[in-house]
Amino acid sequence: MAEIRLSSVTKRFGRTLAVDAVTLTVADGEFMVFVGPSGCGKSTTLRMVAGLETVSEGAVHLGERDVTRLQPKDRNVAMVFQNYALYAHKNVYDNLGFGLRVRGAPKAEIEKRVRHAASILGIEELLERKPKQLSGGQMQRVALGRALVRDPDAFLLDEPLSNLDAKMRVHMREEIAKLHAATGTSTIYVTHDQIEAMTLGDRIAVMKDGRIQQIGRPLDIYDHPANMFVANFIGSPEMNLIEGELDTGTGGSSFIGDGFSLALPEPARFRPPAGRRIVLGLRPEHLAPTDETEGSIPAEVVLAEQMGAQTLLLCRAGGASLSSLISRDDHVHAGDHVMLGTTPEHVHLFDPEGGRSLLPDPAHPG
Ligand SMILES: Nc1ncnc2c1ncn2[C@@H]1O[C@H](COP(=O)(O)OP(=O)(O)O)[C@@H](O)[C@H]1O
Ligand SMILES: [Mg+2]
Repeated sequence: MAEIRLSSVTKRFGRTLAVDAVTLTVADGEFMVFVGPSGCGKSTTLRMVAGLETVSEGAVHLGERDVTRLQPKDRNVAMVFQNYALYAHKNVYDNLGFGLRVRGAPKAEIEKRVRHAASILGIEELLERKPKQLSGGQMQRVALGRALVRDPDAFLLDEPLSNLDAKMRVHMREEIAKLHAATGTSTIYVTHDQIEAMTLGDRIAVMKDGRIQQIGRPLDIYDHPANMFVANFIGSPEMNLIEGELDTGTGGSSFIGDGFSLALPEPARFRPPAGRRIVLGLRPEHLAPTDETEGSIPAEVVLAEQMGAQTLLLCRAGGASLSSLISRDDHVHAGDHVMLGTTPEHVHLFDPEGGRSLLPDPAHPG
């Protein structure tokens, strides 16, 4: 086992800057998730750790070892892919044992490790089958098992659940979490799915355009997004982002929107934006119909979507669209005119120039 350290790791494909000076450390035993939209450089970063792509600039360390120029087979990492990459003509037993066999492991040792991995993953009954006789979930178990038998320094998983149906995805998510708890192996897990990232990661690295936007524990990122991109990408339904003006009057500062104003946290609690314009961020669960008219947002409910325990209201307030997540028991219907209220401590503030958060980050004060 080992920590995984990336130092200013950069990758260029011709003129494309796919990964731009990524620096981060995955602690020994930690589960790190890379999350971001398609094309942001997640897979390329992972493949540089695995040795499947060369590094243009920077270095990769596994524990004390500088592995930057090592062949994949010499790094002692195990990678799991979205498409499983099983050998079609070998049965499950041979798929699991193949990596050990090419490394010259004795037969008895292979047998022991294959049986152990199969029992952890609950696939002992499948050892004689060929991949085409397996379901998607079973194939992904075999792919995980193949990584497991190697007892690697690091697990590298690239969207391993993307080919599974929604129900199997949730189930395999739990299996992967359990597997990690049982092995304690340092893991990097790549996904474009922010719910997978939130539920699996000890920490999450949010990426965009080859760069890390923010690294932190899931709820810290949720509560304190560093910029508008992270605020919008993490969380579902999405955070409401509304542009308006900052008014710093004597009675405290407020946000002036289209047809409403809202009290803001004390000015001492946030940095002023570069200009007068400011972007207000409110998560849908922090916006709800209220009897309080002072400092609330007058809105019309356009659509009330029943999600089960909760109802999502899509509202129009002046020129802005706002969503509000309420309990199913708060009977509100399409066509209703409501006042939407929030509290200053739930307000996020961003600078429209560059999108940076104007609130202090408790993880990095000052
Ligand atoms: N082999 C390659 N040749 C050229 N460009 C590539 C290659 N692999 C990836 N890219 C480019 O690098 C960027 C990052 O891709 P990738 O790491 O696959 O993103 P992600 O996994 O986040 O979807 C994209 O612009 C992609 O088109
Ligand atoms: Mg990818």
